[in-house]
Parts: sequence; structure tokens; C-alpha cells
Amino acid sequence: MKIDILSIFPEMFTGVLGSSILSKAAEKGAVQYSVTDFREFADNKHKTVDDYPYGGGAGMVLKAQPIFDAVSSLTEENQTGNKPRVILMCPQGERYTQKKAEELAQEEHLIFICGHYEGYDERIREHVVTDEISIGDYVLTGGELASMVIVDSVVRLLPDVLGKAASHEQDSFSTGLLEHPHYTRPADFRGMKVPDVLLSGNHAHIEKWRTKESIRRTWNRRPDLFDEYPLTDQQRAWLEE
Ligand code: ADE
Repeated sequence: MKIDILSIFPEMFTGVLGSSILSKAAEKGAVQYSVTDFREFADNKHKTVDDYPYGGGAGMVLKAQPIFDAVSSLTEENQTGNKPRVILMCPQGERYTQKKAEELAQEEHLIFICGHYEGYDERIREHVVTDEISIGDYVLTGGELASMVIVDSVVRLLPDVLGKAASHEQDSFSTGLLEHPHYTRPADFRGMKVPDVLLSGNHAHIEKWRTKESIRRTWNRRPDLFDEYPLTDQQRAWLEE
């Protein structure tokens, strides 16, 4: 997968893309990152990328020209013939979910547009962008952190990025349930004991206990998740035992 990021603060990405699993994914060849300062594309003498809004009002608006030209330069480079997804980071976008991460992980080329403004010139939305995404109902100073959240959650889903031990198949949200409690050694930590069933060696009992705890935790913390992933008959039977 190729991931292009457009931002006037490219240095913000150095630590995140250069560390841990995201950087290992690039070393393995699963992903290729490129961060472009779109100010380089501004066609005016002062390299400004924002301007006052028509009609007046507070705040500046990100101009269409630098974004149109920066995105064109990236799509011209793209030899695969597949159209990239061009993702605008903004609080008005669709709320990001694991399902969207799984959808984006199927793509060959993602382009993220990160702005720092009151708004984007609407022609960017109408003619360049394929997806508008918000990472939650709060307002950040810019789209950079939001795009990093998306890159992280997508790259870990790419083939061969996570080892077997850290496999994503059992992730909360892709199974539809929150995770059950986990414990590691010692079995008795200052009088706080690990549930006996986990020490029993009986895998059927352990599986049943974990499923029940997952359901209980989801019910207590995120009952809304059952709307999208109703309980299976097996899970319901275990719960009613
Ligand atoms: N830019 C500013 N706030 C944002 C948010 N919540 N999600 C995505 N991009 C943003």
C-alpha cells in the first residue's frame, strides 16, 4: 500500500511513521509512506495556502489551488491505474470506525489531506476528495493527529504487519465485542487472585468464560455495539446458562 500525506507540518509525522510497527511495516515493504508539504505547490510569491472567506467571517479557508495541484502530482505518479482514495480530515466527516479501517486496508493508495483552518474551499470537497473522516466529536488544531490515527489503524491490518501473537483477528470491534479481562503471572498478586477457570487448563471452559466476560463488559460499557452485531445463538445460550 502507498500512503501519501499532505500537510504543511510534515515534521509532525517523523516520530510516528518512524517508530515501532508502522516503521517495521515500511521496512518489510508492506507500506510506503510519503509526506508532502503542500505549501510547495502554492503558485503565489509568498507561498500562502489560505485566504479570507468570501462573504466574510472569522477564520481562514484553505485554498483550492495548492491541494488540487498537490493531489494531481501524486495521482500522476501513481502507475497502478487504480484510483486512490483521497481522504479529507475534518470534524464534519463520517465518524471513523474499525469497519472503515478494514475497508481502507483493501486499497492500494491512500492520500490524506490535513488542514489547519476554519474550513476547506468547498471545491476541494466536490472535486478532489473521495472520503471525509472525523476521528471523533471534538475539534483538533489540525488533521495531522487524526490522519496518524487512521494510518496506524489501517497499517496494522495489512498482511504480515502484525506477528501471529499480536494478530488483529480477535480485535474488539471486528468481533463486535469488547475484550474479556486478561491476566498474567503471578496467579496470586498481593492477595488478588486470577480466576480459577484460567488456571484449569480446560480450554472449553476458558473459552466460555471469556465469551461471557466479553459480553458482560460490552453490555456494561458499550451496549450500542449490540445494535450492529447481535448476539449469536451460541453466545446467548452461554449467557443464559
Ligand atoms: N480536524 C480537526 N478535528 C478533527 C477531527 N475530530 N477528526 C478529523 N480531523 C479533524
